[in-house]
Amino acid sequence: MLRLMSTIRSFIVASSILSTAVLVMTILAATARADFPDVEQLPERSTLPDPLAMFDGTPVRTAAEWRERRRPELIKLFEWYMYGAAPAAPQVEASTDSVDEVLDGKARMKQVTITFGPSAEKRAGRINLLLFVPAGKKQPAPVFLGLNFRGNHMVLAHPAIHLPRLWMPSGPGMVDNRATEAGRGLEAPHWPLEKVIERGYAVATFYHGDIKLDKPTWDDGTPSLYFQPGQTAPAEHEWGTIAAWAWGLSRAVDYLSTDPDIDARRIAVFGHSRNGKTALLAGALDERIALVIPSQAGCGGTSPSRGTVGESVERINTVFPHWFDGTFKKFNKATSKLPFDQHCLMALVAPRPLLLTNATGDQWANPTGQFEMLKAAEPVFKLLGTEGCGAAEMPPENELVNTHLGYFIRPGKHDMSPVEWAQWLDFADKHLPK
Ligand code: GCU
Repeated sequence: MLRLMSTIRSFIVASSILSTAVLVMTILAATARADFPDVEQLPERSTLPDPLAMFDGTPVRTAAEWRERRRPELIKLFEWYMYGAAPAAPQVEASTDSVDEVLDGKARMKQVTITFGPSAEKRAGRINLLLFVPAGKKQPAPVFLGLNFRGNHMVLAHPAIHLPRLWMPSGPGMVDNRATEAGRGLEAPHWPLEKVIERGYAVATFYHGDIKLDKPTWDDGTPSLYFQPGQTAPAEHEWGTIAAWAWGLSRAVDYLSTDPDIDARRIAVFGHSRNGKTALLAGALDERIALVIPSQAGCGGTSPSRGTVGESVERINTVFPHWFDGTFKKFNKATSKLPFDQHCLMALVAPRPLLLTNATGDQWANPTGQFEMLKAAEPVFKLLGTEGCGAAEMPPENELVNTHLGYFIRPGKHDMSPVEWAQWLDFADKHLPK
């Protein structure tokens, strides 16, 4: 622990010299306008935009052109037209609050507080990370990192896990939108921790509301710390909630990369549904994430915005106006004007492995459209020297396409179940760096 704190402190001291420069750059980044046209001026595209063509149509022919020109351009396009831009990475500090032996001694459970903010005075950003590490392992463990919907205490019934004090969505275990003791372990069936630990992986999670509550108001969480005086909501091209959550995942990666129990080269990020949209965005933007698993992520994540099955862009922007930036709403009735589709976000993960998992009963998330997106991302994965997806057709139920661009669909409904986890483990065994 002391070693960890001193590593983090020396990182902070070293970076403080740069902090003024970083602050200036952050302000410039936040105020600089990208050179992209208004939505009304974008051309309609009857076919999917080519990930291997620049915005102006210039073909991208080599891996170097992809890395140096197209990848940065696509990131800017997604920030501008869809998710909104997040601030530059801040300095993080971390302290371990507790360590307990759990799961019959098979794991150590650590609770770590990670803090950050736009400046030393506004260091109020906070993630309560819950981390399970296989006990008695000499080597640092690979880790599955994913957000939870309703608090860490739901993941395992253990009295030491802090009860969150933040607002929570209503449901079992909540009273007046607050967590209660009765909620402990209620989500445990969706988190087969023991199995994951037995396979040698650590698991890290935090409540997405630590970063930003899932509400269309902006007076809580990290984004409000970044407001200019008088600002009450993100400006048109600034981060929406999904971008803020993804940025939060990167802050957890900042910490995990310094934890001696964790192998920083083998961080897999996963997420279900809205947390899956977030996992994909985090994986697309943060190249320290070695493997990405968006599960049943659907519209605004892994399914085509131009799709006609399940949730539409107009519907998601209406019901969840806070998830994306202001500009994305201008595509509600004009998705064919989008200069990208979600295959381009998947392509940003390349050459790192990506797995989509789905359920036949979850047509809201358009599983077939997701497979089409995966295939449309494949040329980029191949250009960067990976095998791609391999499968020409969507696989039948319960058959994992365990290639670099993997796919799995099971019968049943919208849910994060042990069936998914089993596929994620097989995929990670094969595709995480050795
Ligand atoms: C809603 C929403 C989806 C989202 C899902 C979830 O169904 O329309 O876009 O993925 O909630 O997060 O569970």
